[in-house]
Amino acid sequence: MIRLTVPSIDEDDVSAVAEVLRSGFLVSGPKVKAFEDAYAEYLGVPHCVSVPNCTCALHLSLLALGVGAGDKVAVCTYSWPATANAIRVLGADPVFVEIEAETFNMDPAALERTLAKHPAVKAVMPVHTFGGSADIEAIMAIAGKAGVPVVEDAACALGTEQGGKKAGTFGTFGCFSLHPRKAITTGEGGIVATHDKKLARDIKMLRNHGQDPDASRPDFVTFGFNLRLTELQGALGLSQLKKLERIIAARTAGAREYDRLLAGSEVRPPRSLPNSRHVYQSYVVLLPEDLAGKRDEVIAAMRKREIETTLGTYHMPLIRYYKEWGKFSPGDFPVTDDVASRAMTLPLYEGLPPSSQAAVVTALGECIREVRG
Ligand SMILES: Cc1ncc(COP(=O)(O)O)c(C=O)c1O
Repeated sequence: MIRLTVPSIDEDDVSAVAEVLRSGFLVSGPKVKAFEDAYAEYLGVPHCVSVPNCTCALHLSLLALGVGAGDKVAVCTYSWPATANAIRVLGADPVFVEIEAETFNMDPAALERTLAKHPAVKAVMPVHTFGGSADIEAIMAIAGKAGVPVVEDAACALGTEQGGKKAGTFGTFGCFSLHPRKAITTGEGGIVATHDKKLARDIKMLRNHGQDPDASRPDFVTFGFNLRLTELQGALGLSQLKKLERIIAARTAGAREYDRLLAGSEVRPPRSLPNSRHVYQSYVVLLPEDLAGKRDEVIAAMRKREIETTLGTYHMPLIRYYKEWGKFSPGDFPVTDDVASRAMTLPLYEGLPPSSQAAVVTALGECIREVRG
């Protein structure tokens, strides 16, 4: 079986976790703090706060911005449902914004129209989908003109850049995931990055029962949850972070190899903005137009050949919950309709040999012919 993804776990990662287990200090120790500091240094921001996953990171960011019941938040259409769910769990309403066909990311012109139509929008949430940069410079300019804060969903985008600046460091908050499908992992895990000291403190309080993080004795100054990372995860994150650039380089080389193998074929490789750095959390192609609606048959045919592939991500307005909630139908977001029906993720991870990539591309051609019949 050629797997879709395999995390890059080395012996030093295993030793780092074992060392914490042997120490007997499993929570609230120095590893989590050291991991947060190293992450902040990598991004070039003053504050990173760890949480149990990126869904929590998005939720707490919106909560810290005061988003609540009845508020509107502009969010792109094409993402893992966590992105819109972080808005709905606060009782707020997602206002979906169409994507660009080229990059699968929020279309800045569509955002501009949305903000003109909904002047009460309280936050803008673009996603750096699959590790490719959204046009975050344009999005920041449009949101800035409207005076609306930006929360970047950078779940898949650690190391992604536009104009030499890292994704997740443009907005008021940048939210990252450490799930095993991402470049580096702590099992489950998430990071909130921010330039704002007060907001970083608010996130720290919200993740720890509302306690003042700077007080020497417990002082519960607000409400909050228990959303802390363990020392096991902190230690794993620290050792994973050391190899991030090696992993990104390997994934980028794998992406270039797929680009070469697919050149001249009817399958469209992923594209990225000029002046940006794509980190290929996923390598997502577009199948030919006549296979719209038949992508799942292609995935099933690949599985029969022992190759694991999957769809790109979800057309959020058309998943059952949001479709019923917002009475959305096909045609409301035509670019997303098209991308979501043809996008397919190919296997990509650090140890994937070029011979396996060649086998994937050969099998893909065969499966396309088979599904066409
Ligand atoms: C774009 C996006 N946002 C948010 C999330 C949620 O991340 P987590 O699984 O860490 O909660 C994911 C997860 O894959 C994602 O792809």
